[in-house]
Amino acid sequence: MSFSEIRYSQVWEDEAILRGALNIMPNDVVLSITSGGCNALALLLMKPRRLICLDISPAQNALLSLKMAAIQHCSYQAYLAIMGVTAGERHEIYSELRPNLSLEARQFFDSHKADIDAGLIHIGRLERFMAGFRQDPLVSAITPYLRTLTGIKSLDAQRTVVSQITDENFKKVFKKYFSQENISRLGRDPAQFAFVVSTDVGEHFWQCFLRAMNETQFSTNFYMQYFLLGGYENLDYGPLLLRRESFDQLKRLCHRVELVTDSLENFSEDKRMLGITKVNLSNVFEYKSAASSQDLFFELSQRLPDNARMAFWNMLVDRAPQGIDSLVNLPPKANWRDRFCLYQSFKCYEVRR
Ligand SMILES: C[S@@+](CC[C@H](N)C(=O)[O-])C[C@H]1O[C@@H](n2cnc3c(N)ncnc32)[C@H](O)[C@@H]1O
Repeated sequence: MSFSEIRYSQVWEDEAILRGALNIMPNDVVLSITSGGCNALALLLMKPRRLICLDISPAQNALLSLKMAAIQHCSYQAYLAIMGVTAGERHEIYSELRPNLSLEARQFFDSHKADIDAGLIHIGRLERFMAGFRQDPLVSAITPYLRTLTGIKSLDAQRTVVSQITDENFKKVFKKYFSQENISRLGRDPAQFAFVVSTDVGEHFWQCFLRAMNETQFSTNFYMQYFLLGGYENLDYGPLLLRRESFDQLKRLCHRVELVTDSLENFSEDKRMLGITKVNLSNVFEYKSAASSQDLFFELSQRLPDNARMAFWNMLVDRAPQGIDSLVNLPPKANWRDRFCLYQSFKCYEVRR
């Protein structure tokens, strides 16, 4: 799998669940998979002592590096512009930020000028794949109805509109677009499906979609709003890293972040793990065999101190530690339901010896 491109420019795993489960305290040292950077920064807002953002992909770390430079050195208006939330002179903003970037991030974005044009939240392979869905003529045709959902406050009234939109034609288009074949071609890498067995991927995502549309309030669900409308209706309910009230806090906290480009497997085996107390693993087990997932769970259980917590998602591949007594599965809370329509479960384990 190539790590030379940005695969995710946002994170689709629900930041609210992660923050609730990891329950970060001032003395915590957090390890988070970087990915699109949103959840790492949502955790940073909980003011841990240090935050290590780790990704095997230099492109993902370059993206977070630029997002953080924008937070540290831009006005809020310029930040929203370079992120792609509002219009603005993105190239000028980038030129001003450039001297503050790491060499790797500078080299990456100097050779990806089109990404600066597009705005940082829109440039991932997955986000471009979502944009392709919105361009389908049938989806474009229902966009005005989807937009009305942003003004509806009652879940019953929302369900009525949703039932009108999600007819057989829409279902057919949805399932075809989000089939394994099409996602592998345009949205994710085929290698990311290596451990997916006998699942009708289109049907799986369709059921997740119906759940999100019928059981979560669209007017405040920024995940579904971006997916279906390509932007956020009201930033007061948007991703934490984009909210006005977060901006000044993040400016003060960014110096606590360290970016590391390496695999979790290498990282977890050496002394850099020392002192880490909370871990966000995204859904990295999705791409690992059952045996190597168990090795990684075991390694983490050995390295982490008592009361440390680690959280992760499962999407199409069900992974969990097996027979490791020191890893205790925290009972799922009622609000551990993702607002986005990708994941089948979220899990959090605590180390207890
Ligand atoms: C696990 S992916 C999840 C994205 C999305 N949920 C999906 O399944 O398509 C998020 C990030 O994890 C990084 N990643 C995957 N496996 C990793 C590993 N073994 N070590 C470090 N980073 C890893 C990827 O580069 C990516 O940026």
